[in-house]
Amino acid sequence: MKIACLGGGPAGLYFAISMKLRDAAHDITVFERNKPDDTFGWGVVLSDETFENLAKNDPLSAGEIRRHFAYWDDIAVHYRGQKIVSTGHGFSGIARKKLLQLLQQRARGLGIELRFETEVASAAELAKTHDLVVAADGLNSRTRNEFAEHFKPAIETRKNKFVWLGTHQKFDDAFTFIFEETEHGWIWAHAYQFDADTATFIVECADDTWQKFGFGTMSQEENCRTCETIFAKYLGGHRLMSNAAHVRGSAWLNFPRVLCETWSYENIVLMGDAAATAHFSVGSGTKLAMESAIAMANYLRSEPTMAAAFAKYEDARRTEVLRLQSAARNSLEWFEDVERYLHLDPVQFNYSLLTRSQRISHENLRLRDKKWLEGAEAWFQRLAGAGDNTVRRPMFAPFRLRDMRLKNRIVVSPMAQYKAIDGRPTDWHLVHYGERAKGGAGLVCIEMTCVSPEGRITPGCTGMYAPAHEAAWQRIVDFVHAETDAKICCQLGHSGAKGSTQLGWEEMDAPLQSGNWPVLAPSAIAWSPRNQIARAMTRADMDLVRDQFVASAEMAARCNFDMLEIHCAHGYLLSSFITPLTNKRTDAYGGSLENRMRYPLEIFHAVRAVWPAEKPISVRISANDWVGSDGIEPRDAVAISRMLQEAGVDICDVSAGQTSIAARPVYGRMFQTPFSDRIRNETGMATMAVGNIFEPDHVNSILMAGRADLVCLARPHLADPYWTLHAAAKLGDRGEAWPPPYYAGREQLYRLAGSAEPVPTAV
Ligand SMILES: Cc1cc2nc3c(=O)[nH]c(=O)nc-3n(C[C@H](O)[C@H](O)[C@H](O)COP(=O)(O)OP(=O)(O)OC[C@H]3O[C@@H](n4cnc5c(N)ncnc54)[C@H](O)[C@@H]3O)c2cc1C
Ligand SMILES: Cc1cc2nc3c(=O)[nH]c(=O)nc-3n(C[C@H](O)[C@H](O)[C@H](O)COP(=O)(O)O)c2cc1C
Repeated sequence: MKIACLGGGPAGLYFAISMKLRDAAHDITVFERNKPDDTFGWGVVLSDETFENLAKNDPLSAGEIRRHFAYWDDIAVHYRGQKIVSTGHGFSGIARKKLLQLLQQRARGLGIELRFETEVASAAELAKTHDLVVAADGLNSRTRNEFAEHFKPAIETRKNKFVWLGTHQKFDDAFTFIFEETEHGWIWAHAYQFDADTATFIVECADDTWQKFGFGTMSQEENCRTCETIFAKYLGGHRLMSNAAHVRGSAWLNFPRVLCETWSYENIVLMGDAAATAHFSVGSGTKLAMESAIAMANYLRSEPTMAAAFAKYEDARRTEVLRLQSAARNSLEWFEDVERYLHLDPVQFNYSLLTRSQRISHENLRLRDKKWLEGAEAWFQRLAGAGDNTVRRPMFAPFRLRDMRLKNRIVVSPMAQYKAIDGRPTDWHLVHYGERAKGGAGLVCIEMTCVSPEGRITPGCTGMYAPAHEAAWQRIVDFVHAETDAKICCQLGHSGAKGSTQLGWEEMDAPLQSGNWPVLAPSAIAWSPRNQIARAMTRADMDLVRDQFVASAEMAARCNFDMLEIHCAHGYLLSSFITPLTNKRTDAYGGSLENRMRYPLEIFHAVRAVWPAEKPISVRISANDWVGSDGIEPRDAVAISRMLQEAGVDICDVSAGQTSIAARPVYGRMFQTPFSDRIRNETGMATMAVGNIFEPDHVNSILMAGRADLVCLARPHLADPYWTLHAAAKLGDRGEAWPPPYYAGREQLYRLAGSAEPVPTAV
């Protein structure tokens, strides 16, 4: 095959090598506009896993690369005058120039023609004279633009500015992050050694800081001098150097996240940065480029046609790229939002930084550096008031809200059971909530309990509007208090336009077959075209519903619930006041967010006035309508939380969605946690995270990184009422109390889990 590799970066060179190794008869030319050793950038990082892939593909070049590796195990973080070091991270770095020289040497040895200082004007021209053109022409790929209508690239330019510098200062003991506060804002460096006397030194900051420094108008020389002054105390008198001489003007960049819809067109295929990029903070661009080269060479050999090989290549590599881009997005967003975390204690800041891409979990960190993690866990427990020497996972830390003390951070999230009779909870509820309270969670939140018959979602929903309801709830609360050390929270709500619908396991949110009741809402809008149009509430309706909330809260107080939650999420009445999707009012309760929040806040104040002062109140919100800027977005959720905080709400239960049938949620593990993170760290308000959190590891990383104070699990508690006790047994933690009649079961469970010996919980 006659092959042209357009671009002599890692992708182009390594693909040429990989093809020639598979068939020496291939006629391969690499076209590169630069001179052989005229390259931008400094060092690149490769993981052990990537190195193994390279070694399998070509032991010879891998051996040469390995000989030039700089290794390090530690990550050091300089932040607020402290240097925190953790270990076990295992990286290796190599000079980009060295890597390219080694690949060039190998390519020449295999008989590949390398044409330097050759600018390719059009891949289409090459395609006429070659069987295959691999467009490995980098980030600003001309080929990608030339055939943009076929490749359909999506390019997202990220907010932060960065510049890739080098230095002879040694950073050979650790991959080093340095955060510096300046008169123009925070600026930080990612530094790592890549050969005996040179280190990469990437400087990054927010656009605002960059503007204020005037970096855009400085020469490259001035840029380096200014950065030297900022980071002087870490540079030991060494200079910062730029080798971006080929770049016109400022060498600062905004990272472009690139992903093409298709990667091939006729006999042209995109590879490396031309097809997809991964942010430098996860250090995977070179990995992607070289592993894609291996995959393409394999498929061209295994598949009957070039088209089939392209299809396989795209299929396999896209999955890998998306996985990496997702981690890279988490990581780059962390740096974009870093100012949100700059109030954190250095221990928590470090943890948040290390786990930012969500690829490193809590227990994975323990494998890397047990001592450091245990120190961090002890810090967390100390802060939680557990005592100075406690080393337990964050999920087992106590928590206090007003006078309510929770034994741990696990919450049974509210879940409608649809088993009530005329609003009255039954023996089902006694057994259901009793079991969950026995199961070890610190707090059990009962389902949305409605303030009036018309405020119910379904005929099976529980209520708190009749003496029989109060008596039945009292029995449940008494059981929980008498037999367990869990606390119990009453969630009060009104269904609004989503009322008068079928039971959860029938046709959810659909009107009843018969016996529908009229529904109320801020505006005369139906939940869906199938549901009835709600009646827009008058002031008299608003007074009535407010008084119903107050009466229910008084009943809940008499039942001795430990906490109250007002349901302002999921499209029910109070939620439908908050979101502009369903609140079209033109009076003081519609329009601006302040106006839309007015009624929910009126309810809160009225309820707070009758709820015992020593007991907390939480509010559950939908932090994202998932419809874009027409609805509530996370930034609005921050404003909502600020209003709740100012009103005296103790904790915000951060849910999302279910406010519109047009919603397009983006699901995934812990998918709503970023909203809780943002609210907690931007407002300082306590939060509960919820949504697809199902592993103890998720819970621990959320808590330890300061993304929430409490973690709610809903569906996991349907499957396993004993989720917390089972998690403790799996983790070998003996600190959680079991009901005495179950002690024999506990011993067997711990024995089966492999931790028969009591695990010390204090050092
Ligand atoms: C600041 C920064 C730090 C990074 N850190 C790391 C890291 O630590 N680890 C890591 O793995 N990756 C890192 N990367 C990413 C990495 O550099 C790229 O992902 C990688 O180089 C991609 O390889 P490539 O072969 O696709 O493209 P490139 O390396 O960009 O190579 C493309 C080549 O094509 C040539 N070319 C382009 N157009 C033409 C034309 N028309 N005619 C002839 N020649 C042409 C260019 O001159 C260039 O040599 C970093 C990137 C940046 C910006
Ligand atoms: C069967 C069921 C009933 C629910 N009922 C309620 C409810 O009454 N009030 C509420 O705020 N959320 C309710 N939810 C939402 C959960 O509290 C939780 O926010 C959601 O299920 C996401 O958490 P998970 O991924 O842990 O299940 C319900 C969820 C389920 C599965």
